[in-house]
Amino acid sequence: MKILVLYYSMYGHVHRMAEAVAEGVKEVKGVEAVLRRAPETLPAEVLGKMGALEAQKGMAHVPICTVEELASADAVIFGTPTRFGNMCGQMRQFLDATGGLWARGALVGKVGSVFTSSATQHGGQESTILSFHITLLHHGMVLVGLPYSFQGQTRIDEITGGSPYGASTIAGGKGERTPSENELAAARFQGKHVATIAAKLV
Ligand SMILES: Cc1cc2nc3c(=O)[nH]c(=O)nc-3n(C[C@H](O)[C@H](O)[C@H](O)COP(=O)(O)O)c2cc1C
Repeated sequence: MKILVLYYSMYGHVHRMAEAVAEGVKEVKGVEAVLRRAPETLPAEVLGKMGALEAQKGMAHVPICTVEELASADAVIFGTPTRFGNMCGQMRQFLDATGGLWARGALVGKVGSVFTSSATQHGGQESTILSFHITLLHHGMVLVGLPYSFQGQTRIDEITGGSPYGASTIAGGKGERTPSENELAAARFQGKHVATIAAKLV
């Protein structure tokens, strides 16, 4: 079984979460995790102005996803930074190229799941994941989130991402925060949870 972890990350937070999701996937026997990035849509000049070039170098080893790789996966776990409470444009553009998959029902019945990152605590993590789900439902995917059996999402003794909709991290206004242990544990849990359910379906 092969589970695709497809993400876009500008400054590395979603990338780090994606690595943790993949670790969780691999905890399930016989399941392979494939890490892929959504294609960039911004010119290098703009990325430079946004201060993203260094972080981009750190992710360059992760191959860019093709649309057909979605079809060949047994499940797909999507990661995106929040952009005004929605998925980022890079992911949107990639998904908007999946009309052919939709036409042949290539993703119908496959598990789909979403994780995210935002600068601020209440900056739209839940709306990003829930609005992402709409696209997955149009593709006929079976939605999986982050159940409360991951109890780390109930913590109030420290700032943390994570909701029943999916794992998340809070990056800080300048991207100065890195995913906490609790947030990475949520990502691993989600990866393992998706792999466990997908294995039952497949
Ligand atoms: C155009 C734009 C819109 C953004 N919108 C939001 C937002 O609505 N709420 C928020 O908390 N952060 C917002 N952010 C911050 C990003 O979510 C943050 O940089 C990202 O989560 C970091 O993840 P990454 O390192 O994987 O790129 C925005 C950033 C950009 C560039």
